[in-house]
Amino acid sequence: MHVSFNLASSFDAALKTAAGAAGLDATDFTPEVRTADPKHGDFQANGVLPYAKRTKQNPHVLAEKIVAALPADLRTTCTITVAGPGFINFTLQPAALQAWLRTFSTRAQLATGAATAYAGQTWVVDYSGPNTAKQMHVGHLRSPVIGEAISRLLVFSGATVIRDNHIGDWGTQFGKLIWAYKRQLDIAAFATDPLAEFERLYKVGNSASDADPAVLKEAQQELVKLQAGDTENTAIWEKIGEVSVSAFQQIYDQLGIRFDYTLGESFYNDKVERVYRELTDCGLATESQGALVVFHPEHPRFKEQPFIIRKSDGAANYASTDLATILYRSEHFHADAAIYVIDARQSDHCQQLFLTAQKWFGKTSRKSPHLEHVAFGTVLGEDGRPLKTRNGDNIKLKDLLSEAVERARRLVDEKSASLPEDERRHISEVVGVGSVQYADLSQNRSSDYLFSWDKMISLEGNTAAYLLYAVARVRSIFRKLEAVPGDPAVEAAASAFDTPEELALARKLTKFSDAVALATANLRPHFLCLYLYELAGDFSTFYAADKVAVDEPAVRARRLMLCARTLLMLETGLGILGLRTISRM
Ligand code: ARG
Repeated sequence: MHVSFNLASSFDAALKTAAGAAGLDATDFTPEVRTADPKHGDFQANGVLPYAKRTKQNPHVLAEKIVAALPADLRTTCTITVAGPGFINFTLQPAALQAWLRTFSTRAQLATGAATAYAGQTWVVDYSGPNTAKQMHVGHLRSPVIGEAISRLLVFSGATVIRDNHIGDWGTQFGKLIWAYKRQLDIAAFATDPLAEFERLYKVGNSASDADPAVLKEAQQELVKLQAGDTENTAIWEKIGEVSVSAFQQIYDQLGIRFDYTLGESFYNDKVERVYRELTDCGLATESQGALVVFHPEHPRFKEQPFIIRKSDGAANYASTDLATILYRSEHFHADAAIYVIDARQSDHCQQLFLTAQKWFGKTSRKSPHLEHVAFGTVLGEDGRPLKTRNGDNIKLKDLLSEAVERARRLVDEKSASLPEDERRHISEVVGVGSVQYADLSQNRSSDYLFSWDKMISLEGNTAAYLLYAVARVRSIFRKLEAVPGDPAVEAAASAFDTPEELALARKLTKFSDAVALATANLRPHFLCLYLYELAGDFSTFYAADKVAVDEPAVRARRLMLCARTLLMLETGLGILGLRTISRM
């Protein structure tokens, strides 16, 4: 029996063909197959109703006609019924569930199954992108966490992903920073934490410029020298970049992130002239009060609020470099899509940027990549306001992650006191960092979320610790029985799934592909989190009801098979989210 990875899309295709055979206009018919409420079956097609309405037919009769035209072998693998006004329900037979689980028994097989959806497409994922000379703080948490999970989802679905860190490494702030560096560098502080020292120096330069116009003038001079390519200032600026990127990488290492490119704003310095020229030539950009701007007359706000692409002093800005970046990604990477994992507060910038780029590409007959702002909300403290330290400072990301590991350590010491010290340390790291990642990913990214240590590092609820514990528990079952997860010799002997708990778990396992597809199509990892959480719950129910270590070899084999696939989906899913897993806890 041929088993397709994504069952929903194979039912979708079968329904489309059947609709054509049954005399419907297949180009106008979208089956809309979705995962169903388990009460009704595995999948449900809702698309007959709107089609029937459009064509003034009886939906139930129409649905019956389509079902009758489905291939016969589909009816041996599932029960197909027409329900209510015209929903088509599919319920997989136990043998079909088992065939699916036999076909997709390793991570590689899952990946091969999934890797058709986006095959051949190149996606640039623009995420993290912090500004240099400053330490990353809690406001910089979500973009790398969400961006990495989305990158992994896209890779899993077969896309070629280019991870690009668009750091803010250019701008007027460097004049003040260089001014202070030349006069007030604390060598000892620089040796211990160079990025913290640069951050301090910037503040020094900034307040000195505020207090004294003469200093401001000197700082501006330093900036002019840097822009003109002065050797000394360029060397200082390069040092700032190096120190910043290596400090960022320490955070990225903890989060499992490796960028393919770190092409910051400065990389586009020599590429903005072409943007000004092309946008002016094609009539999109106009001069306004000395600046070069783009209006969007069709937009309620952007018809009056211009997109400034060159400042009145002639300098490039965020918009100029971002436009040059789109051109570069299109010409150099041949990107089919570029997605921007940036705070929702930059949504005006993104909208104006995308509108401008699409019109520009249209006028110059280039194909614009698909551009999308993957927006996310703010991390809030328990008081409902943006999370800060007690003194009102921003919480540094490195401190936040260390605290997570420390807190996880308390949980581990309490629950797993018998494990050796170095293993407990390792588990604490995986649980601590994973809890922070997972708390972020399990929320719909569009909303703000409340940062709560107690909820985050807990064995109860939809948390990393709960899922990591589930993984460790399944591993321990195999350890106790001295069995290897997924052993083909054992699984060959498995009999058909039979108990309600076995069937419920098997059903849930086959929905892995759907969860991945849903999360990828919407660029929303929380769909995958929710799936994993429910899967762990179904596993618990199964494990409480059905003993695995029974004498009868065929029953034991099929239950071990369910344990092995649960482990596979949990580990693969958590891996896609960017979390590490552990085998004991
Ligand atoms: N540096 C920007 C910031 O800190 C984020 C960059 C996002 N990427 C982009 N292509 N604009 O807000």
